Amino acid sequence: MTDMLAQIRDLPAQLSWAAEAEAPAIGTHSEVLCVGMGGSGISGDYAGAIAEPFGTRVSVHKGYGPIAPWAIRLRPLVIAVSYSGNTEETLDFAVSARDTGLPVAAVTTGGRLGEMAREEKWPTVEVPAGLQPRAALGYLLGAVLKVLEGAHAVDDQRLAFVEAAEWAGRAVDEGSDTWDRAAEIAAGLSGRIPIIYGGGPISGVVAQRWKTQINENAKMPAWWSVLPELDHNEITGWETMPDVTKDLLGIVALTDRSDHDRVASRVDFTRNLTSDAVPWVAEVASAGTFPLTRLVSLTVTGDLLSLMLAEHAGVDPLPVKTIEKLKKLLAKEDE
Ligand code: PA5
Repeated sequence: MTDMLAQIRDLPAQLSWAAEAEAPAIGTHSEVLCVGMGGSGISGDYAGAIAEPFGTRVSVHKGYGPIAPWAIRLRPLVIAVSYSGNTEETLDFAVSARDTGLPVAAVTTGGRLGEMAREEKWPTVEVPAGLQPRAALGYLLGAVLKVLEGAHAVDDQRLAFVEAAEWAGRAVDEGSDTWDRAAEIAAGLSGRIPIIYGGGPISGVVAQRWKTQINENAKMPAWWSVLPELDHNEITGWETMPDVTKDLLGIVALTDRSDHDRVASRVDFTRNLTSDAVPWVAEVASAGTFPLTRLVSLTVTGDLLSLMLAEHAGVDPLPVKTIEKLKKLLAKEDE
């Protein structure tokens, strides 16, 4: 757990870096399309939650080109995000965006995306290298928000970064409330497959992050769903196999003050209606003032939890061998 823990403990420093980073000048955009995969792609989802109150729509694309007809019509600013700079889906989409004449900006440590950005003179925020992409969330989100600042799509986020960095700095220490809460949840989830629920722009986005962090760090299956949608389908899926699910699954519901009031009621009703099938349920509420801090507060709990689950499972959270194997298989196919 040590190495990944060190990388997760780097988050406060990354947020402080973002507080001071310079925003590139990009004109004015209120329609943005972020493209990226995995640990890079999720920075677009987080940025979308922050940008929405400013009247900026951030759509997120996780896949290859071509550019969808709506984007050809609305001409969003495309932000290509790839920590390595070598992710084929992101590169493919960036090429499609360029060929379609859309404005493009890049966030990367370098790689092929860095080269393309230099050749094409795309505005770029270069982030420090040397981390697993999923442990570079502070840099990647910081850089995407810098691009949005440069595009007048959000206000200056400096104060938010400072608050979030301070909050994260306290939370990542062993013995913090966040650490203890993560440990409690890890103990309860031991031997269970986690299902993470969110219910609004902030809690929903972080539910996805918890799922992917548990997958990649703890090497465990996990799923995420969002309220109120899951009350219209998933809730009935608990009816026929309670003997299997009651010991096999655990639900963690993430909440934030921006969740609709009716979503808060739905958390309680859903929990009661499904208690035979999934009796183990935990809730985690966000903390902090700025949306960024609230995103970060839920994120740190999930990141620590994923490391604790890795420890319980006896696996090293750092390597993602199956992802690397798959990338190699695809590269071989190209030879
Ligand atoms: O966490 C990971 O390692 C992956 O999810 C990667 O982020 C993903 O494969 C995309 O790579 P990159 O972030 O370098 O574009």
